[in-house]
Amino acid sequence: MLPKSISGFSKLTKLERIQWLRDNFVEIEPSPDRDLEAFWLHDAPMQKVIDGFSENTVSNFILPYGLAPNFLIDGEIYCVPMVIEESSVVAAASSAAKYWLNRGGFKTTILGNIKVGQVHFVWHGPTTLLLEIFDDIKKKIISDARPHMINMENRGGGLRKIELIDFTDDEPGLYQIRAHFDTRDSMGANFINTILENFARSLESFMYDSALIPDKWRDINVLMSILSNNTPECLVRAEVSCPIDQLDKPSQIQMAAELAEKFKLAVKVAHIDPYRATTHNKGIFNGIDAVILATGNDFRAVEAAGHTYASRSGQYRSLSNCEIVNGIFRFWIEIPLAIGTVGGLTSLHPLAKKTLEILGHPDAERLMSIVASVGLAQNFAAVKSLVTTGIQQGHMKMHIVNILNHLQATDHEIQKICTYFVDKTVSYASVRDYHEQIKIEL
Ligand code: MEV
Repeated sequence: MLPKSISGFSKLTKLERIQWLRDNFVEIEPSPDRDLEAFWLHDAPMQKVIDGFSENTVSNFILPYGLAPNFLIDGEIYCVPMVIEESSVVAAASSAAKYWLNRGGFKTTILGNIKVGQVHFVWHGPTTLLLEIFDDIKKKIISDARPHMINMENRGGGLRKIELIDFTDDEPGLYQIRAHFDTRDSMGANFINTILENFARSLESFMYDSALIPDKWRDINVLMSILSNNTPECLVRAEVSCPIDQLDKPSQIQMAAELAEKFKLAVKVAHIDPYRATTHNKGIFNGIDAVILATGNDFRAVEAAGHTYASRSGQYRSLSNCEIVNGIFRFWIEIPLAIGTVGGLTSLHPLAKKTLEILGHPDAERLMSIVASVGLAQNFAAVKSLVTTGIQQGHMKMHIVNILNHLQATDHEIQKICTYFVDKTVSYASVRDYHEQIKIEL
């Protein structure tokens, strides 16, 4: 065995894993009260639940859980939990929520709730024959999978459509069964994957047994069966709008018009230039991921779908849009969000459960509306700052607070130092030195 390699790591207890880690990878042995063990939960049964989410666990990685209040969405007010490690994000979402609270709030529309799964297979018979018999294939695979679909059908969901996709121009013999599902309030990955694997087995047995297939074409090779994270049919739109002159204080009508035009142009830049689009959409995902994490949903799936959707024209573009028509400023986002409010971590992780409780136990579509609104709010706050003051002003204040927390400054010191640095350049050394100075003075 190579030095520092190990077999049977997963069989070790947590303490044994930590000891092995210290023996092999950590130079200075720290005191346990400041190391991995310090972040174990005191509640042992709860720790067991958390450990069950993953493998080879040795500790818990803690992230801040914050609240963005004042989100008026479709006439209801929400206080939205957000889990994120980046400073200013929750503050920006909260300020955008408050801003739109007095301007009609966020309005949302669910444009679809359909998810897709695929069975990829290779078959070298004639495409015309496959097309002819596809209705019979469909009947068999659906009827074989029915027992696994009953529960979902009873909840109002289930299979909505099956298609045959021909990829033989790209690769000889390559086809796909593409199935479209409604999984109601669950994200549905397990359900979809179970049905797809069932479809794959039924497809094979159809090809082996059916009298419609000549013996020389019986060979079929199922390559893989898996849901697609591309979910353009699981789509939500969130928007805000108001007369341009309400964008700023009544005394600032000229500024409001200027803001509207600059804002619209900034969004256009993110449609024209993929470099800007990537940053612009990153800002949207600052908000979206934070709520997705807080609800125990899969942020990688949501990110993957969002970026694919942003590229649907053939170029990566902004997920949000802005227009000014007849003096009305309108800003909106359309984003695929394949998320759930039942099953998975949503009911196992104690804080995911708490988040859903704080949000009033939304169904999946309501959660899509909330998440899209937070994404739009986040984007609004970022672009508004960028075209007016710049974002460093807000960021720097947070940066100073982070430095001062590290230096264990008091609230009074933090307040005084933030005021002092309003018009000065911030660096770790300058904040530390000024902190030292005022500690002596105070
Ligand atoms: C920083 O995390 C996000 C922003 O860069 C987004 C944007 O530029 O639109 C501020």
